[in-house]
Amino acid sequence: MNAPSALRTTRISLNNGTDHMPALGFGTLIPDPAVTITATTAALAAGFRHLDCAERYRNEREVGNALQSGLAAGGIAREEIFVTTKLWNSNHRPERVEPAFQASLARLGLNYLDLYLIHTPFAFQPGDDQDPRDQNGNVLYDHDVTLLDTWKALEALVDDGNCRAIGLSDVGLSELKHIYESARIKPAVVQVESHPYLPETELLEYCKEKGIVLLAFAPLGHGMRPGLLEDPVISAIAARARKTPAQVLLAWAVQRGTAVLTTPKSAARARESFDISALPPEALEEINRIQTRQRLNQVVTTGVPGFIPQAKTAERGN
Ligand SMILES: NC(=O)c1ccc[n+]([C@@H]2O[C@H](COP(=O)([O-])OP(=O)(O)OC[C@H]3O[C@@H](n4cnc5c(N)ncnc54)[C@H](OP(=O)(O)O)[C@@H]3O)[C@@H](O)[C@H]2O)c1
Repeated sequence: MNAPSALRTTRISLNNGTDHMPALGFGTLIPDPAVTITATTAALAAGFRHLDCAERYRNEREVGNALQSGLAAGGIAREEIFVTTKLWNSNHRPERVEPAFQASLARLGLNYLDLYLIHTPFAFQPGDDQDPRDQNGNVLYDHDVTLLDTWKALEALVDDGNCRAIGLSDVGLSELKHIYESARIKPAVVQVESHPYLPETELLEYCKEKGIVLLAFAPLGHGMRPGLLEDPVISAIAARARKTPAQVLLAWAVQRGTAVLTTPKSAARARESFDISALPPEALEEINRIQTRQRLNQVVTTGVPGFIPQAKTAERGN
């Protein structure tokens, strides 16, 4: 049997047969460029080997700089790091996909990506404006391109050889099924909000059946308080296991067979969040019995980014 601490270095096989995605990933949704660099550097130093990026976060250059320095400082090979980035809504037209992919690669300073995701299923008016609106402030959608059209352009990136795996984000089960059934190259990963208040059990079961990795975002409830970090069940398990609530939430996510993205911003939090250990089965069952249901990010309804304001002020971006 594996040591409980082996959980933090769990790797999950993808359906492309070659890559192993570290289950515990570091997300780079960090609005401040300087914090992006310090947080990414700290995450690599703490042991994170999976970085989740997006052109929408407007900080791929900073992530790339921190990544290059971190690889050099730690003597880490590029192949040890799993890097994902995402195609934004205003680049869904097939002819815009390859240029967007190449621009992300250039900003990250990489010559291949481990995973490229369609950030949301919503196509916005094509162009360089990430948030196109009419004069009344309504989002300008693009109704002349389908998700499948965009997916086929991602398949071509895999054929070209600089993109190892492709996937979707912020989709529901029916959209995933449609793409899965129509695709020549099946989605390897689906990134969605998921935590004990939004376990996405049906989606997870479908993913497991089809060999797709469910990659959970906001596992700590985006750090909103009150919220998951103060949930009495989570807190009680943390006290019993001598772990923090954040460590309990991340362990639960990995032990239920998902990959997970978290965003520690300080070195101390990066070390804490990487230091997860396996929980006993009864603790997992207690978490599975939590009845609270809450979606924190509105992106699935409109494609417009943003966590829904709770006690903590919502950030722009997603
Ligand atoms: N596909 C999408 O549409 C989408 C949407 C959202 C996010 N994402 C991805 O998922 C990643 C993770 O999402 P998320 O940032 O919401 O995840 P999260 O880890 O649930 O929330 C991050 C927040 O939790 C707090 N935190 C981090 N580590 C902590 C710890 N050890 N103890 C207590 N609090 C801690 C941080 O607060 P402080 O700020 O105070 O440090 C941070 O603001 C993002 O970076 C992004 O890559 C994707």
